[in-house]
Amino acid sequence: GQRDQLVVVSNRVSGLTGRGAPGAQGGLAGALEAVLKRRGGTWCGWSGNERGEFTGDVHINYRDGIRKATIDLEPQDVEEYYNGYANSTIWPLFHCRLDLTRYERNFGKGYERVNKRITDCAAQLIGPGDLVWVHDYHLMALGKGLRMRGIANRIGFFLHIPWPPVRLFSSLPFHERLVSSLLKYDLIGFQCDEWLENFLHYCRKDLGAAVDEQSGRIKYEGVTTHARVYPVGIDFDHFTALADTPEAQEAAWWLRSSTRERIAMIGVDRLDYSKGLPERLDGIGCFFERHPERTHDLVFVQIAPPSREDVKSYRDIRARLERKTRQINDAFSEVEFDPIRYVKRGFSQAQLYGLYRAARIALVTPLRDGMNLVAKEYVAAQDRLDPGVLILSRFAGAARQLDSALIVNPHNPVEIAQAIRAAMDMPLEERRSRWERLADNVRDENVHVWAGNFLHDLESV
Ligand code: G6P
Repeated sequence: GQRDQLVVVSNRVSGLTGRGAPGAQGGLAGALEAVLKRRGGTWCGWSGNERGEFTGDVHINYRDGIRKATIDLEPQDVEEYYNGYANSTIWPLFHCRLDLTRYERNFGKGYERVNKRITDCAAQLIGPGDLVWVHDYHLMALGKGLRMRGIANRIGFFLHIPWPPVRLFSSLPFHERLVSSLLKYDLIGFQCDEWLENFLHYCRKDLGAAVDEQSGRIKYEGVTTHARVYPVGIDFDHFTALADTPEAQEAAWWLRSSTRERIAMIGVDRLDYSKGLPERLDGIGCFFERHPERTHDLVFVQIAPPSREDVKSYRDIRARLERKTRQINDAFSEVEFDPIRYVKRGFSQAQLYGLYRAARIALVTPLRDGMNLVAKEYVAAQDRLDPGVLILSRFAGAARQLDSALIVNPHNPVEIAQAIRAAMDMPLEERRSRWERLADNVRDENVHVWAGNFLHDLESV
């Protein structure tokens, strides 16, 4: 192929049919799509489809200057790698949910097998001068696989989710093996300091690697790599340009016309236990209990398209959320309305823009989140003259950058209730000054800056 292109590898490749409700594709796919549209390049990963027997055939498709190259997986791959190791072992463990973490030996084997399959696919597409950038927890072993095939290009890795504290991480069977394959990458990127520190701490303490905390340089088994922080952002110009689309305006109208004189508060999340949705509802319930006279002033709309439904913990969280929504609505509903609306489907980016714009408050209260781009999109969608208020969990990576939001502990319903009250009553001047600081960050630290910084370092470390 061409020389010196960018080759991106991730489990999910956006714009393909297959698994995942529309609107539930998460931050990674949107970010990579924006980067590849601007820079061009190849995007390699799983097609999202299952096929009875594995063929290794690579499906190629060109659109928007992106060459998408994907493979189908077998049902057993999907079970052991995607539902198993990735989403029943790593995801809960890395989000500090040891109670939900399941490990089976077949999961580990399936993970290695699929990493090898995707390695084979990527290896065919990489040219001599290409930069290779692998993404997220599904593909931590890819760098090692590519090296074993003799690929000498610069290969970087970015983790979109948190890295857990050492004690938790070391409960993972064969944790050393996983990290030693990770250390085959030239550069490893994290969303914020805390995840990087956890990782470096593990490398030094448990693995016995030589770690220079200042530069993030790690030496292990004769190989040197670097680990650093690159907070991902949104495609700010593209997202804000959605303001004038009919879709955005219509969606803003849905929310405004159906909430009328009430303040609309919004939450938008993939339906995932890491997002703190039941805890959020407890906070709202607490607000209504403490301020019964204000029940009339507020409507909360939660948009939560289902995600990873073959995994039991995801079905459980869905049932729990439905139950809690009903309880609060039973306790506080009025003749003409329910204070909580729970919408179980996804929306387009333009529609989300409109919904964010029409919402006076956003509740983003994950229990743990690598970054959280909903918080950034909400900020980007506000009217500069009359902006809304962001309530943000201190446990989202985004809280490091967006510290002018109302920062809360999502485990404490009283704090959430107080923040809702403060947001409802916040004078225009304060809303503006907080928003300006938030918007500066969201605009400046956008997705193109993120990719530019990472790829620059990948070339120069
Ligand atoms: C998170 C992960 C991504 C993932 C997304 C959606 O953002 O970091 O890797 O693509 O969730 O989840 P899914 O399992 O549907 O790809």
